[in-house]
Amino acid sequence: MLQNKRILLIISGGIAAYKCLELIRRLREQGAAVRCVLTKSATEFVTPLSVAALSGDKVYGDLFSLTDEHEMGHIHLSRDADLLIVVPATANILARMAQGIADDLATTVLLATDKKVMAAPSMNVRMWEHDSTVSNLENLRRRGIEILGPDSGDMACGEFGEGRMVEPAEILAAIQAHFKDDGRLSGLRALVTSGPTHEPIDPVRYIANRSSGKQGHAIASALARLGADTTLITGPTREHDPSKVEVVHVETAREMLAACENALPTDIAVCAAAVSDWRVTQEADQKIKKDGSEPSLSLTENPDILRTLSQPGNDRPRLVVGFAAETGDVIEKAVPKRKTKGCDWIVANDVSPGTGTFGGDANQVHLITETGSESWPQMSKQEVADMLVRRIADHLHPPAAAE
Ligand code: CTP
Repeated sequence: MLQNKRILLIISGGIAAYKCLELIRRLREQGAAVRCVLTKSATEFVTPLSVAALSGDKVYGDLFSLTDEHEMGHIHLSRDADLLIVVPATANILARMAQGIADDLATTVLLATDKKVMAAPSMNVRMWEHDSTVSNLENLRRRGIEILGPDSGDMACGEFGEGRMVEPAEILAAIQAHFKDDGRLSGLRALVTSGPTHEPIDPVRYIANRSSGKQGHAIASALARLGADTTLITGPTREHDPSKVEVVHVETAREMLAACENALPTDIAVCAAAVSDWRVTQEADQKIKKDGSEPSLSLTENPDILRTLSQPGNDRPRLVVGFAAETGDVIEKAVPKRKTKGCDWIVANDVSPGTGTFGGDANQVHLITETGSESWPQMSKQEVADMLVRRIADHLHPPAAAE
């Protein structure tokens, strides 16, 4: 069932757009609330009136309609949804999504969202096989957008091949699969650290690192989606605060530790932050001026947050997960790190130059537990987060006991 799930259905202008009507009906039968955005060309294939009648809601379409913006701005449209799905997804809208073009309401909502996005492509086989579409799809998948289908078969244009949109039943099944774990972590508390820390040298300068915070933020979102009461403690990043998560912004390692201790007790702790190992022993209270000499910085080791949280005691979370950012021999370096830190699991990844891990959208990780290590395929950071959080849910509530 999809009781209380809010689906934002973006209908673009393809011949399969009429199938949306059946999808809306089926989603509503399952208890979902469906709100629809139609592109201008979609209205050539389905009428806003039939979409409104089936969805039981106003239909949105024109970015520049002052009434739409007044009643429900594009940011709210995505904020108020649990999932965005583009059905059918034409080659054109996929290209605009891949390029970040926001020239109508549909693409503006897609660019503004931090929610899970699915798309069901529908196009002629030659368009589907075109190099541009292939690279757009690669780009979208890397960013965590789930692509459903397409199927092969006879097409409306008279050709045969890949590009036919998957049936509404299959789209419904994918949506149900997406929500199936929801609520599995209800009643549990989770704490996630994310991003770099900034360690001041003087009022102007600081020591930092290349962490973007993307992985930690995605993990916090995924934990919250499964129902955990989640606190995200983040160093300075360009990431948006995820919805349904309590976010604490910090700068330094010591502030991050204090915020973590403040968030205890918690059932789950995931330390994804790239905490600066050192701070400047004595921060200068005035900007340090050049004087022709070679300046040197005296550094002091920062507290180890992961190790502190892993220490045995009443406040120890039931599951503590650390990350290991390594260059070369990732598993060999990360296995002993699990022991020295005292955490339960380590997610190890290679951050060597050229891997694109720091700052990029993709990640290839190895999960190291008390029973050994397993290597996961290269995935988007969102997919790594979803898979890790599903594993956390399986560990705390084994599937057989979850019913
Ligand atoms: N970590 C932490 N506090 C620190 C340093 C690291 O909580 N002061 C956590 C990170 O969030 C990560 C794990 O420890 O979960 C491993 O971080 P990593 O940078 O790989 O290892 P370090 O402990 O810094 O060891 P080294 O840099 O020597 O490999």
